[in-house]
This record gives sequence, structure tokens and C-alpha cells, in this order.
Amino acid sequence: MSKLAAEIAKRRTFGIISHPDAGKTTLTEKLLLFGGAIQTAGAVKSNKIKKGATSDFMEIERQRGISVATSVMTFDYQGVKINILDTPGHKDFAEDTYRTLTAVDSVILVIDCVKGVEEQTERLMEVCRMRKTPVIIFINKMDREGQNPFDLLDELEQKLSIRVRPLTWPINMGSNFKGVYHLLDRSLNLFSANKTKIEKNVVAVDIHTPELDARVGDKDAAQLREDVELIEGVYEPFDRAEYLSGEIAPVFFGSAVNNFGIQELLDTFTKIAPPTQARGTDVRVVEPAEKKFTGFVFKIHANLDPKHRDRIAFLRICSGVFQRNTFYQHIRLKKNVRFANPYNFMAQEKEVIEEGFPGDVIGLYDTGNFKIGDTLTEGEVLNYQGIPNFSPEIFKELINLDPMKAKQLEKGIDQLTDEGVAQLFLQPQLGNRKIVGTVGDLQYEVIQYRLEHEYGAKCRFDGMQVSKACWITSEDPKKLQEFVRLKGQNIAQDKDGNYVFLAESDWILRMNQTNNPEIEFHFTSEFKLA
Ligand code: G4P
Repeated sequence: MSKLAAEIAKRRTFGIISHPDAGKTTLTEKLLLFGGAIQTAGAVKSNKIKKGATSDFMEIERQRGISVATSVMTFDYQGVKINILDTPGHKDFAEDTYRTLTAVDSVILVIDCVKGVEEQTERLMEVCRMRKTPVIIFINKMDREGQNPFDLLDELEQKLSIRVRPLTWPINMGSNFKGVYHLLDRSLNLFSANKTKIEKNVVAVDIHTPELDARVGDKDAAQLREDVELIEGVYEPFDRAEYLSGEIAPVFFGSAVNNFGIQELLDTFTKIAPPTQARGTDVRVVEPAEKKFTGFVFKIHANLDPKHRDRIAFLRICSGVFQRNTFYQHIRLKKNVRFANPYNFMAQEKEVIEEGFPGDVIGLYDTGNFKIGDTLTEGEVLNYQGIPNFSPEIFKELINLDPMKAKQLEKGIDQLTDEGVAQLFLQPQLGNRKIVGTVGDLQYEVIQYRLEHEYGAKCRFDGMQVSKACWITSEDPKKLQEFVRLKGQNIAQDKDGNYVFLAESDWILRMNQTNNPEIEFHFTSEFKLA
């Protein structure tokens, strides 16, 4: 096998997603602990913005620092190179998570066994389904009195529209939680609560022998036999191909905070999760084993030090070998760029790298050349797809409060929206009115704070009567122009000059859709790449 092929086969690049508080941060930390990347629990700080912190800007700043450090966590485990891409837990930053999902090859979804499937989980799964991303589900907090595991599986199937297949099965839960039975290995992992150390208590047990009764007691032994019989009757044997095509999600049970069930999860993950996958571009599918380097930027992070306006662009390598100090073509800008200090991330350390392989995520210092979605290649003109902007949900008008600082405001909002903090829409016909669209209120506070502290510009946001924005196109350019002219105030343009229709309500949007069949309304900007 060539070196490139061997490096590709070794990599598992994935994201952990969950509704806030289900245990994503804890699980991430425990995976690092099992992988030997950190020695003690508590080393990975939560990147979530704690409840009630919405007006605490120092907290936001602190969190931004942490989330750079934990954006990618890399470690080696049993010959496999694991790249965990962190996703923000806070719902106002959901769009960051959607974008990160475009850079992974698979996903681990964490569910709280007490709460079951929560709202954010449903939305995140929709993105995974759209992209056919393979998903493993970890049902967490089994040390709490949760829902019946069969009911949980039903709920997962119904609410997430995916078939599930348990690979471990719990023996009781809450204060009576005794451990899990591994349905494939036919072994028993007995539970002992331990928050700091990894203790393994795994035994191979034939559940049809009295040994099971001796280990877990008659009642639980009988229940487990009954459950296993039911599972084997109801569910088809686990088929990896179905998992890889995103049709079926294997399910594990455990308790992250107690280090329990993590080993089974990690061992199975390294065996079944996909290595670096091929990716679609606007012209063709690129295989990771192709010799020439290609990659795309899926996240941009501003420097924490306001004196240095440079940023870190996170690039996912899709094919070939990325080399330090080598010129690559920046497709959108049509110019050559090279990087003297690209780095990767080992747990919380970062180090300058000489080369990177498909599946890796590297950090590139950027002085304003990158936008989210930008592609780098060795010269071939292609653009990676699937980094859409989603139609925002909240819209506010940006008002400049200091006319002397109009330039700074302009530059600031331009750069912040390049980073993907929010989307900017312009209404040139209305004195170049600027509308900022986001998925959460918190972003306005972040923008206002950052504009002031990083760019010296003061602003205010005024609420608007807009509930939905969609991009509009038409096969007939005349019809589009006519629609744009007729709708006046309801029309804006995105940063690339595409027309956007701003609707006051869902009803108005539907009415316009019905009355204008020749106009297409798009809810993500994906159409731009189609
Ligand atoms: P998130 O990143 O998905 O938002 O969740 P996070 O890991 O921060 O976990 C949320 C809370 O759930 C934390 O408690 C964490 O300790 C707890 N937790 C995680 N795994 C388990 C588990 O297996 N069992 C139980 N009972 N709790 C678990 P917290 O009180 O919010 O924070 P902390 O003070 O404990 O850190």
C-alpha cells in the first residue's frame, strides 16, 4: 500500500453531536482519556456557553478561546488516527455545527436516557440524513432513572427517521444499573461508578448458563435473557454496509461521567466507522487517494487578540498530501497562496506540521483571504459542495451609531460574516441598508461586542418584521428582474449579490410561492453550487 493509501485508511474523522447537556463534552473528554491523549478527567473544558451567560461578554470571549483549543482533537488509538471535530453545543451556534458536519466522515450522537430525543438532536440528525453521514448513537446517563430502553429505541426511530440496532444492552438503570451486555461479543461489562479512572470489568458470559445469574442476580438475569431474545427476534443482524450508507445507526448504552460503556463504543467505532471518504465538488467527485491535494475551509476563527486581526481558517484535507510552504490555488480568489505555519492539534497542544493527509483538519493563519466554503487545489478548478448558508431565523437592521467609524463598521461586519457568525444582506435600493440574519439572539450580542472591541465601531440592532429569507432564482432572467422590481422593500442581496426574498411571515412566503410559480425559492444557499 502506498503511504497515502495507508494514511487514508488509518484516519477516522468524526463529530460528536448532542442536545446541550446530554453529555457531549464529557464523552469527548472520556474518549481522549481512553485514547491516552489526556491523563486525568477534567482536562477538557466545556466549550458551551453556560446558561445565563448571554450578557456576560467575558464569558463569550473565554469560550471563544476554549473553542479554538478544542476545535479539533487528534489522538492515536490502536493504530487508528482519530480526529474529533468539536461542535458548539449552544443552539444559537447551530449553524457552526451544521458546517462542521460537512467536514466529518461520521458522527456519534449522544442522547440523554432521561430526556430522550430533544429538539436540537432532531435538527442535527436532519443534516446527517441529508448527507447520508453514518451515525452511532450513545445513550448516556444510564446511572439515572431513564426511559425504558425499548421505548428509547422506538423514539429514536420515529423522531430521527433512522433505523437503529442496539449493539450493547443495559441491565437495569439508575441506582440499579448493573452494566451492559455486548450483543456481538457476548460479553458482560459490569458497572461500577468511577469518575476518574478507567476500570474494566469485562467477562465473556454465555447468558444461558447460571453464571449470568451468579453475576447479576436471578431477576436481572431472567430479564436480560428475555430482552436479548426479543432484540434478536426483532432486529436484523448488524450489517456494517447499512451503517456506512446512513440507513442504520448502531446503539450503545453507557455513562460517560462514570467512564462506563466508552471502551465498547471506542473499540467498535474504530472497527466500523468509515475512513476518509470521497467528496463531491461542483464538477466531479474527488477520491481521497488522488495524488493532488485538495481541501476546503469549513470554519474560521478570529484571533482573540484584538491587536492582531489575523484569523485561523480550519481546512479539511480531502485528497493528496498537503505540504507546508507550498503554493496552492485559492479557487475563489484565483490566486496562489502558501502557508509557512500550518498546524494540527494534539489534544490541546498545537504543533506546526510539514504535511497533512486526507481526513486531517489543519489550522491556517489567515489575514482575510478566506471565507467559509473556500477551496484550495493544486490548480484544478473545482469547488467543494455542501457548505450551505441556511436561511436565518432572526433578522435585524444594523444601525451605525458613530458616523466617523462607518468604514470600520463596514469592514468589521464584512469580516465577521465571512467567519460565519451571521449572514449579511444588503438593500442597495434603500440607501444600502444592512440586515443581519442569524439563527439565535446571542449572535447579535457577540457581533455588537466584537465590532466595538475589535473594530472600534459602535452599532445598534433594530428588530424587523421578517421571519424568513429565501434565495430566489428563475430560469427566466426577465421574470426574476420583474419580481425583484415589484417586491421592492422585500428584496435584499446576499454578499455574493444573489437576490433574497424577505418574507414577513410564513403565510406571505407561501402566498408568494403560489403566485409566482416561475420563481424558485431556496431555503439554503446550496443552489449556488448546483
Ligand atoms: P454537553 O457537552 O452535551 O452540553 O454536556 P456535558 O458533557 O457538559 O454534560 C452535562 C451534564 O451532564 C454535566 O453535569 C455532566 O457531568 C453530566 N453527565 C455527563 N455524563 C453523565 C452520566 O453518564 N451520568 C450522569 N448522571 N451525569 C452525566 P453538570 O452538573 O452540568 O456539570 P458538572 O458540574 O458535573 O461538570
